[in-house]
Amino acid sequence: MKIAFFDSGMGGLSVLHDALKILPQEEFIFYADEDNVPYGTKSREEVLRFVDAAFKFLIEQGVGAIVVACNTATSVAVKEMREKYSLPIIGMEPALKVALDSFPDRKVLVTATAITITGEKILKLIEKLRAENLVELRALPRLVEFAERQEFKSAAVEEYLRGELASYDFEEFSSLVLGCTHFNYFKDTLRKILPPHIKILDGNAGTINELIRRTNLKSARSEKLPSIEFYYSGRRVTDSEELSKLKKFLSRLDEVEAIR
Ligand code: DGL
Repeated sequence: MKIAFFDSGMGGLSVLHDALKILPQEEFIFYADEDNVPYGTKSREEVLRFVDAAFKFLIEQGVGAIVVACNTATSVAVKEMREKYSLPIIGMEPALKVALDSFPDRKVLVTATAITITGEKILKLIEKLRAENLVELRALPRLVEFAERQEFKSAAVEEYLRGELASYDFEEFSSLVLGCTHFNYFKDTLRKILPPHIKILDGNAGTINELIRRTNLKSARSEKLPSIEFYYSGRRVTDSEELSKLKKFLSRLDEVEAIR
């Protein structure tokens, strides 16, 4: 089955990266909406329009399932896409439940884009988990820009994160949740800044498990290299420079994979 992974940009590669390890025998399409990234600072109407166009394209490619590897697109558009299309559509959910299950009395800092943290979806999740007094939300839009220009580790990244996180008393917290798939590229800088007891959690494993559950795919070992077609906003990526750039993003994810 051809499975599509869709994001505004390079963040979704972090979810695909996990899928490649667990489902190496499948065929993947990775779609980054590079013409329109970032989504997180745009209006909901615009994001809905972008997601709709990407879905139309992916359905035309004959995919059997779409993973919306973007918290922002999930927050804005997954409901509408599920009403429109009948194939399995798997969205992202910030790993808030995972954090609260392990540490029910400690606060959680959920970081995401501005659209995600002001959206109804996250508020509903917090309400469902009765975590109103345990969750703080923080938008980190510049991380999306840093990631897109492959600035993964720099003095500017560290300074930005130190500034954004300075006001929290982390003694009250158990975890920092990465509620934007672009934020995975910065796990090492985050680990350096945060006190050691703070867990860094992403929603990737939950999403892949949901993909497996919804599609009945089987995890298997495979010797063959995974098959991935890359697209930028509907254009197939064939240029060798761009393909090697995508490889660099995947190598960066190898580097930070084990950081929790
Ligand atoms: N990667 C995206 C997310 O998970 C969105 C980043 C953006 O385009 O602003 O939210």
